[in-house]
Amino acid sequence: MDKDKNNSKTFYITTPIYYPSGDPHIGHCYTTVACDSIARYKRMQGYDVMFLTGTDEHGQKIEQKAAEKGVTPQQYVDEIVAVFKKLWSYMNISYDRYIRTTDDYHVESVQKIFRELYDKGFIYKGEYKGKYCTPCESFWTESQLDENGCCPECHRPVTVAREEAYFFKMAPFADRIEKLLLETDYLQPKYRAQELVNNFIKPGLEDLCVSRTSFTWGIPVDFDPGHVVYVWVDALSNYCTALGYKNSRYHDYDKYWPADVHMVAKDIMRFHAIIWPAMLMALEQPLPKHLAVHGWITFQNKNGEAQKMSKSLGNVVDPFMLGERYGVDAIRYHILREMALGADSAFSNEIMINRINSDLANGFGNLVSRTVAMADKYFGGTLPNDREEGDFDQSLRDCVLSVRGKVDKCIDETKLKNALEEIFVAVDRANKYIDETEPWILGKDESKRARLASVLYNLLEAIRVISTLLSPFMPTAMPKVWEQIGAAESDISYENAGRFDVLPVNVTVHKGEILFPRIDMEKEINELNAIIEKNMAEAKAKLSDAEKGEEFVPAELAQEISIDDFGKADLRVALVKSCEKVKKSKKLLCLQLDDGFGGRQVVSGIAEWYKPEDLIGKKIIIVANLKPAKLCGVESQGMILAADTPDGGAAVVFPDQELPCGAKIR
Ligand code: MSP
Repeated sequence: MDKDKNNSKTFYITTPIYYPSGDPHIGHCYTTVACDSIARYKRMQGYDVMFLTGTDEHGQKIEQKAAEKGVTPQQYVDEIVAVFKKLWSYMNISYDRYIRTTDDYHVESVQKIFRELYDKGFIYKGEYKGKYCTPCESFWTESQLDENGCCPECHRPVTVAREEAYFFKMAPFADRIEKLLLETDYLQPKYRAQELVNNFIKPGLEDLCVSRTSFTWGIPVDFDPGHVVYVWVDALSNYCTALGYKNSRYHDYDKYWPADVHMVAKDIMRFHAIIWPAMLMALEQPLPKHLAVHGWITFQNKNGEAQKMSKSLGNVVDPFMLGERYGVDAIRYHILREMALGADSAFSNEIMINRINSDLANGFGNLVSRTVAMADKYFGGTLPNDREEGDFDQSLRDCVLSVRGKVDKCIDETKLKNALEEIFVAVDRANKYIDETEPWILGKDESKRARLASVLYNLLEAIRVISTLLSPFMPTAMPKVWEQIGAAESDISYENAGRFDVLPVNVTVHKGEILFPRIDMEKEINELNAIIEKNMAEAKAKLSDAEKGEEFVPAELAQEISIDDFGKADLRVALVKSCEKVKKSKKLLCLQLDDGFGGRQVVSGIAEWYKPEDLIGKKIIIVANLKPAKLCGVESQGMILAADTPDGGAAVVFPDQELPCGAKIR
């Protein structure tokens, strides 16, 4: 079955539906901004686009959170859904439809889907015994648990669950799913396919437990009260129910299904690559065309380490706060430009500010402001009719006109980082054209006016094409560019992004506000670091000790060593007699120690977490036989022992304070 296209090209793209279990953060923004950019690009290309997003509102986790707050689950989700919607409007997200899994029509459809699968014999009743991860709402088999017997996704402890339940038969679909993953381009990037087949299909696809009786906040199985539908069956169905599949709320199913792109992050790939196709096969519905899987946006702490973004660590990056400071389009640009399909990307304030300054303020913003300012200065804003072609014109045109085709390809492959890179090749080419043609010199010579007019016109044309192609990614800023370069609405179209000489010969420019102001790196970094540190401290204070332990992901264990190897390290107790900051270093402290052998000096990189007075008079542990080294020009005779802390800091190890100086540690 193919889409009923009604003679128009349709394009259906979806984000995951988000759990409203906490406020949205920059990680949630990535998929939504990426899908929004693709949807806008496709609309510009003339497609009839359906862009769907929404919220996944059922499940035990939501039920628990609502109970903790003393509100009903519905009240709880309503409040957070409002924040999600506010964020999407703030980020200029042009979704066409928003589905909530608590919407009546969705509930009706899911009940019908469950019944059809049951009637067809794909769902049967049995008893569930197994491991369940509450935060991930996932059942796992013994073989899927991680090396500590915990959830393979979030590595938290799982609980043993045993209850009467319905199961969905997976085995009938295993061969077709394997072919879908290995022999088609359904999964992007393709390299993840083999890993899925090896981990889940080759060991034998186990039947999936698709109902629960231990909580009530879910869609009831209408023919067996007491059972609620497993959240993933409920959630995945949204992609069809939002179009009117098995309900009469909407009537677009034949028009848009199958989806052209489902975009998700790697942690939920398995559900979309295996369970969702199996459900659709059982329902005899066409399969989506592409599943685009991206990595995670992690938080880069001040030691340069990537951390999971988590509310309880206080390191979640608040998109509202960033948008207020730098503008929504700058944030959209940054997250799209940093994230490669498939890989993780660490969010760092330094990288963000550098990127905004170099690409947007200096690169594109400067191109626009210089061009408009020169048209204003030399021609009073309106270009004359005279023209004179010259060197570099053709090379500029060729470069600018080659971009659209390359961006088309990147969009079709959901490679938005690459799409932006291609567009910025033209930005760099246009800036280079200014250096090559030296309009400020042409402007001094009356006889070069025609040449100057051509140079400025070519630049305005380059900006028109570039800004048209950038507009799906940065929809707020580009209309301001069009205003400045004097482009009419009809000049800004996908077709015209493939042509030159579109603006009127005697176009009039309008000097306007600076599009992307340059950011003062040092000032901003200090302020952002202060915000994140405050959030981290507050989050830490709120955590119970158990939770603190739960969030901490220890560093990888080092390679095995022998007892003899260990014996080579001479660890001793030492007393800190005095301590001071090392000049010109923010990180180093210089400690004078009584080591039981006449004393020594050690330099340690703990100044961010300890003041000298925190250490003076305390006994610590040192590696006493470490070869001396110079740090910031100061000699260090050994090192002191400190442990990693969950917030990325260091905690000095204090031994029993009664121990004598020089006592050996074995
Ligand atoms: N409700 C399910 C999805 C059901 S789709 C039928 C869910 N929700 S979620 O809110 O937990 O996550 C939604 C998406 O946001 C997932 O793709 C998840 O991986 C993504 N992200 C959440 N935090 C993220 C980052 N820090 N970085 C990138 N994506 C992240 O899973």
